Amino acid sequence: MKLVIGNQKSYLEKDEIDSFKQIIKEANKDNFILCPSSIYLSEFSDLGITLGCQNVSKYNKGAITGELSCEQIKSMGVNFGIVGHSERRQMFNETIEDTNLKVMKLLENGMVPILCVGETKEERDNLKTRDIVLNEIEGALNGLDKELIEKIIVAYEPIWSIGTGVVPSNSEIEEITKSIKEFLQEKYNSSNKVLYGGSVSCNNVEELNLISEVDGYLIGGASTKANELIEIIKKCE
Ligand code: PGA
Repeated sequence: MKLVIGNQKSYLEKDEIDSFKQIIKEANKDNFILCPSSIYLSEFSDLGITLGCQNVSKYNKGAITGELSCEQIKSMGVNFGIVGHSERRQMFNETIEDTNLKVMKLLENGMVPILCVGETKEERDNLKTRDIVLNEIEGALNGLDKELIEKIIVAYEPIWSIGTGVVPSNSEIEEITKSIKEFLQEKYNSSNKVLYGGSVSCNNVEELNLISEVDGYLIGGASTKANELIEIIKKCE
C-alpha cells in the first residue's frame, strides 16, 4: 500500500469543493490524506478523511495577521502540515531556516511535518540533485531530537516535474529515494517514509508503484479532480 497525499494548492472555489466532496466521500480513507485550502478544512471534518494543512506559521499563535499557527490548525483536528514546498520557497522566499522553524512548530504541537525537498532543472543538469536534497533535509532537521525526526514524512519533489507532466525515470526516483533513506538512517538513525511528488496522475501511478523504495505520493493538480484522485487511491491500495 502506498500513501496518497493530495495538495490542492489554491485551485478550487467553493462550488467546486462542494462537488469534490460529494465524490471523495466514497474514497478509501486508509491510505489518503487531503490538504485542501485551509479555508475549506472544516468542510471535510465530517467525512472521516485525514486532513493536512498546506502551510503553517513559523510563529506561535498570537498577533500575526494572516498566519495560521500550528496551535490553531491542531485545534481543528488537523495533524499533518506540508512544509518547504518549492512554491513557498520560490514565490515567498522561504528559507531552509524558515522550514526548520515550521518543522519544529509542527512537532511541538504533536503534528506530522510533510517536508518537501527537490532540485531545479539547472541543479539537476549540473548533477547537484543529491547535494541539494540532502542539504535541504539536513537544514530542516537542524536541532531536532532523533525521536522526533522519525515522525517526519519526506516528499521528494523535483521542481522541474511539478505541474509539467514531466516525470523522472523510475530508476532516477529510486536512486534519490534510497539516498534520502540512507542519509536519514546514517545521520539520525531514523527510518522515514519518503514520497515522490511531481506530475503524478492516474496514468503514471501504476508505473511509479513499481518503485518499492517509494512509500507514496504528494499529488497536486490531479488531487483537485475527485474521480481521478479516487482512481489513484485505488491503484495505491
Ligand atoms: P503536481 O504538484 O502533482 O501538480 O505536479 C505536486 C506538488 O506540487 O506537490
